[in-house]
Amino acid sequence: MIDIQTKTELLDRRNKLLAQMEPNSIALFFASPEVKRSNDTHYPYRQDSDFWYFTFFAEPEALLAIIKQQDGQGRYILFNRKKDPLAETWTGYRLGQQEALTKILVDEAYLFDDIESVLPNLINGKKAIYYADQLYDYADEIIKKAINTLRQGARFKLSAPSTVIDWRPIVHEMRMFKSEYEMALLRKACEISAQAHIRAMQKCQANWYEYQLEAEILHEFAWHGARWPSYNTIVGGGNNGCILHYENNSDTLKDGDLVLIDAGCEYHYYAGDITRTFPINGKFSQAQLEIYNIVLTAQCTAIKLLKPGTSISLVNQKIIRIMVEGLVKLGIMQGDVETLITNKAYLAFYMHGLGHWLGIDVHDVGSDRDRILAPGMVLTVEPGLYINKDADVLECYKGIGIRIEDNILVTESGNEILTSTVPKQPQEIELLMQKNR
Ligand code: GLY
Ligand code: MN
Ligand code: MN
Repeated sequence: MIDIQTKTELLDRRNKLLAQMEPNSIALFFASPEVKRSNDTHYPYRQDSDFWYFTFFAEPEALLAIIKQQDGQGRYILFNRKKDPLAETWTGYRLGQQEALTKILVDEAYLFDDIESVLPNLINGKKAIYYADQLYDYADEIIKKAINTLRQGARFKLSAPSTVIDWRPIVHEMRMFKSEYEMALLRKACEISAQAHIRAMQKCQANWYEYQLEAEILHEFAWHGARWPSYNTIVGGGNNGCILHYENNSDTLKDGDLVLIDAGCEYHYYAGDITRTFPINGKFSQAQLEIYNIVLTAQCTAIKLLKPGTSISLVNQKIIRIMVEGLVKLGIMQGDVETLITNKAYLAFYMHGLGHWLGIDVHDVGSDRDRILAPGMVLTVEPGLYINKDADVLECYKGIGIRIEDNILVTESGNEILTSTVPKQPQEIELLMQKNR
């Protein structure tokens, strides 16, 4: 049996979807397929985010059908893998159809292998079908076959739906607003991610390889039950911190350089996404501190401003000004602040967005940064400045890449910082690092 909170959450999500569906319609959600890593080994299985949202079921080869009947009532049907003692001896437990009824809360469960014969009957006579195409080839194939079966069966009184509706706009709008249940998981994901960054600051040593610092991060994640990162961990020493999606993590960490760590865990399907940048030897140089403080001011200002009624884009404009003014003061940018902003000259040093929505996916649903923020949204706040080794600036600023990233929950009155336990004030970072030297 599933616990009462989980059951309530699941039913609540399904009811919200049902309320937006046409009467006499069917919505289909497919599980993600396994992905081969090499020969006969696979990447660790990760369920499709939308399928997970409506099932909490982590097996491949599965389909959830949500039917809204003519009378408005919901009917839930799962296709899943067959119980198979031999296969289960090799690769582990399979839920099977009987248990699915009580664990996944469905009215009926069929063998995934029987999908070709059963699915057309479920779709037959429905006015509309809700389906997200081009997510998985195997799913498109199944749907195409089922619809063809219905079209070709007109003489047997079979009929295909006249309307196909993409469920993504509906479901993704739902996912933007986190329930209490989701907030609890996000808080935990952020807490573990924060703990991992603290560990990295405590353990960091000059001459380590970047991957050794990565190992400390992953250790902390896994130890707390978050076995996988929510994206590939970035540990970039020195100029590598200027490579936005640096993942090699294979260079040595040099005394006197900064290291940028962008790392977050996935905890029960919810993502943390934190970046901190700190001195490898535990002490910021003057030049590092100058750039760091610009980014820190921009980041703290952004956090203050991000609240209901504004948007990520509007706040980004404000902090771009802070960063351009800071860079002009240091002589890294030259000219009139207004003109530099209008001409987007800052793109040479700040070439990504201020943040993104966070949830079941690290880059979660929600792509419109002009969208007005509202309570229940969870976002990252991650300005950065990247002064490449080849930039035409004073020697002391070359190879400094700094990003500071926190995760916030938008509330009625402002926001709650979910990642506040990792230090970001330079003195706090230095103190934490000194304690362990
Ligand atoms: N770690 C990916 C990002 O910050 O967007
Ligand atoms: Mn990040
Ligand atoms: Mn991010």
